[in-house]
Amino acid sequence: MKINNRLENISEYHFKKIDELKEKLKSNGENITDLGIGDPDLKTNSKIINALIKALEYKEFNKYPPYEGIKELKLKIINYYREVYSVYLKTDEVLILIGSKEGLSNIIPAVCDLGDYVITPNPGYPVYEKCSYLWGSKPYSVPLKDKNNYLLDISNIPDDILKSSKLMIVNYPNNPTGAIANAKFYSELIKFCGKNNIILCNDAAYSEIINGNNKPISLLQYDTKRLNVEFGTLSKTYNMTGFRIGYVVGNREVLKALSKVKSNLDSSQFKPIQYAAIEALSLPRNYIKDIRKIYDERRRVAENILNQKNIKFYKGEGTFYIWCKVPKDYTTNEFCEELLLKYGIVVTPGYAFGNLGHGHFRISLTIDKEKIYSSLNNLKVYN
Ligand SMILES: Cc1ncc(COP(=O)(O)O)c(C=O)c1O
Repeated sequence: MKINNRLENISEYHFKKIDELKEKLKSNGENITDLGIGDPDLKTNSKIINALIKALEYKEFNKYPPYEGIKELKLKIINYYREVYSVYLKTDEVLILIGSKEGLSNIIPAVCDLGDYVITPNPGYPVYEKCSYLWGSKPYSVPLKDKNNYLLDISNIPDDILKSSKLMIVNYPNNPTGAIANAKFYSELIKFCGKNNIILCNDAAYSEIINGNNKPISLLQYDTKRLNVEFGTLSKTYNMTGFRIGYVVGNREVLKALSKVKSNLDSSQFKPIQYAAIEALSLPRNYIKDIRKIYDERRRVAENILNQKNIKFYKGEGTFYIWCKVPKDYTTNEFCEELLLKYGIVVTPGYAFGNLGHGHFRISLTIDKEKIYSSLNNLKVYN
């Protein structure tokens, strides 16, 4: 059978394989603690669920939605950017997505020609690299380093790569490291990309999942010429991973191109989910405060035990992940296997985020703090 050659560069999505392994262990009666995937355990707010149910009574709820998403949701996102970031958007600077993963893939053919480079972080959310291959572009991965607080370092990208690049993807707050960006970083990156005629795209999936007192920031606050784009999602902040609803905001030409790709691939998200998203974005800011408090507490518990067990980690200020170093004398696989087979703990090996993730593993704080404590507390003290 003849299969697309580009699939040679792509393995199956890591978390799909892990899910299969977890199910197998569970069906053998093993007690598994899942610190692997970033799928929040918290309940979806009842107002969101009620809005979804109510929308099933709306006229034409079952019909194709507008390709770009319903106007009411776009207006809500405009309102969110105005209130939280003081960024003023027009309706053609917002596009509704079927989750941000979809948009982060589809922006590649919207911006890049076959063979163009997409500049991506390493380690990074796997979709950037894998979908670059899938769409016939080439990822050029830039190392994220602890010594730079995992902020992408643009100083060593060769000129010939810059000349053949049309898109750079960054992701702050950062998965998997938990690093957050700052005004200086965004301003310099915008300047650099502008000079090199590259569209800068920030994946802001965790924009609101930041340590208690930090103020969320958006790339668009610094993008005064509105040349670039930022992706957002309701998945993480509102515990709606299965609802599949996200958005992209920013440069209208890029959004127009993305919309063109999407209109040939999908027909937008089920209208009731869009109404549920409106309700989510209408929740008071105290909702966000409460969510942050929960993750702050979990982080504190996990960091305390990791210290006791002599496992080194980066002290991130965003996301619900902790980026940890594999203890001395272990390979990444040996250590992750020991965690699973000896202690029943699933974590994500760092290499799932790119080759520079070797020697690391990621803990996801998506179970309650008591379980985090009891599972990690069983570990021995490492060298
Ligand atoms: C960095 C990052 N971006 C995007 C996504 C995708 O989110 P969704 O497609 O649910 O909006 C995820 C999910 O894990 C993520 O970690």
